[in-house]
Amino acid sequence: MISKPFFRIALFMILVVSAFAAWTATAQDAKAEIVVLLPDSASSSRWEADDRRFFEGAFDEAGVTYSIVNAEGDATAQITQAEQAITNGAKVLLLVNLDSGSGQAIIAKAREAKIAVIDYDRLTLGAASADFYVSFDNVAVGRLQGEGLVKAVEAAGLAKPVQVAVLNGSPTDNNATLFKQGYDSVIDPFFASGDWVKVDDQSVPKWDNQQALVIFEQILTAADGKVDAAIAANDGLAGSVIAALENQGLKPIPVTGQDATAAGIQNILAGKQSMTVYKAVKAEAEAAAGLAIAILKGEDTSAMATGVVNNSSEDVVGVDVPSVLLVPVPVTIDNIAETVIADGFRTWAEICVGDFEAMCPAGWDIMPTMEMTMEPMMTMEPMMTMEPMMTMEPMMTMEPMMATMEPTKAK
Ligand code: BGC
Repeated sequence: MISKPFFRIALFMILVVSAFAAWTATAQDAKAEIVVLLPDSASSSRWEADDRRFFEGAFDEAGVTYSIVNAEGDATAQITQAEQAITNGAKVLLLVNLDSGSGQAIIAKAREAKIAVIDYDRLTLGAASADFYVSFDNVAVGRLQGEGLVKAVEAAGLAKPVQVAVLNGSPTDNNATLFKQGYDSVIDPFFASGDWVKVDDQSVPKWDNQQALVIFEQILTAADGKVDAAIAANDGLAGSVIAALENQGLKPIPVTGQDATAAGIQNILAGKQSMTVYKAVKAEAEAAAGLAIAILKGEDTSAMATGVVNNSSEDVVGVDVPSVLLVPVPVTIDNIAETVIADGFRTWAEICVGDFEAMCPAGWDIMPTMEMTMEPMMTMEPMMTMEPMMTMEPMMTMEPMMATMEPTKAK
C-alpha cells in the first residue's frame, strides 16, 4: 500500500515538475533581443520538435540573446507574450500567429515600440504588416498533397466514383487557405468529371487533432464507412483520419499529410498514410533567424528577401511584404531515405522504434548518417538563385530545378 506521506510527496513533486515545464515553455529571458512566438504544440509536432531546435542552433551560433515561447493555442496569451517581450526590450519578434486578428495586435504593438516583426511560416493578413515573411510556397504544398492523393488513388485501383473526404486546416490560418487552394486546383477536375465524389469538406478549428478525430468519425458514420480516400492537410490530421478508420474497424485508405513528422513517416512506413510534404524547417528557421540577426545588428537587409507577398485580407487592402519562400518536397514510401533522412531532418533511430523497426530498410541502424555528407541540400540552394521575384511567379521556375535535384524515385 502507498503511504499517505509518500503520496503527498509524489504529488508535490509532480506539481513542481509540471509547473517547471509550464514555466520553461512560457518564461522569457528578460535579456532576449530576439523573441520567437510559437503557436502551440498540439496542431503539429514541428513547432516544438523541429522549429525550436533549429532556431536555437542559429541563435546560439550567432551568439545573440533570445527566447522561444509557445502560446499553446491561446491567442490572448500570445499577445501577452509579445507585450512581455517588448517590455523586456526585445528588438525583433518572430511571430507564428494564431489568427490574423491577434497577429495584427502584436504587429501594431511592435510598431509602437519601433521594433521589427517577422511573420514566420504564417502571414498576418490586414492593415498592419510584418517587416518580413518567411515561409514556403504554400500553394505548392497543397498542390503536392493533391497530386499525392491522385497518385495514391490510382495506385490503389479504386473503383469509380471514388468517395473522397477533405479535411482542411484551421480556418484562421492563412496557410490552410493556401494549402486548400493548392490541392483543390488538382482534385477539383476529378470531382467535375464525376470520377470522384466529394463526401465532405470540413475545416478543423485550430488544427485540433482531437476535434479532427470526432469530425472524421462523423464523416465516416454519415457515409456508412464508404470513404475511399482523404485529403488531410497535415500529418496530425492524417493521424486523426487513421485513428477514426481504425476505431470503426475500417482498412487504411489513401490519405495525405504534411510536415514529415516522425509519426507521419511511421504511418507511411506502416502503409497507413500515402505521403507527407517535407518542408525543410531548418532552412526556414535559418532564413528567419538570419533576417532577425541582421536587423538586430543594423545590417542592410534589402537584398535578403527574394520576393514579396501581399497581405491583403478579404476586407482590408494590405501591402507587399518582403518575403522568402522555400520549396516543399513530397515524400512517399519510395523516397524517405533520399529526402528527410538525407537532409538530417529525421533519423531512422527516431522512426524505427517499437513495431516500426521491422518496417525500416534493412541495415538502417548501421547506415552512415547521410546528414554528415549532405548537409544543406535542396532548399537553401535554390534560395540563392531566387532572383528578386514578384510574389509566387519565380517559384514555378524553380520546380524543374528541384526536380533535377530530387531522387528519381520521388517521381
Ligand atoms: C504550418 C504547418 C502546420 C500547421 C499546424 C501551418 O501553418 O505551415 O506546417 O502543420 O500550421 O500547426
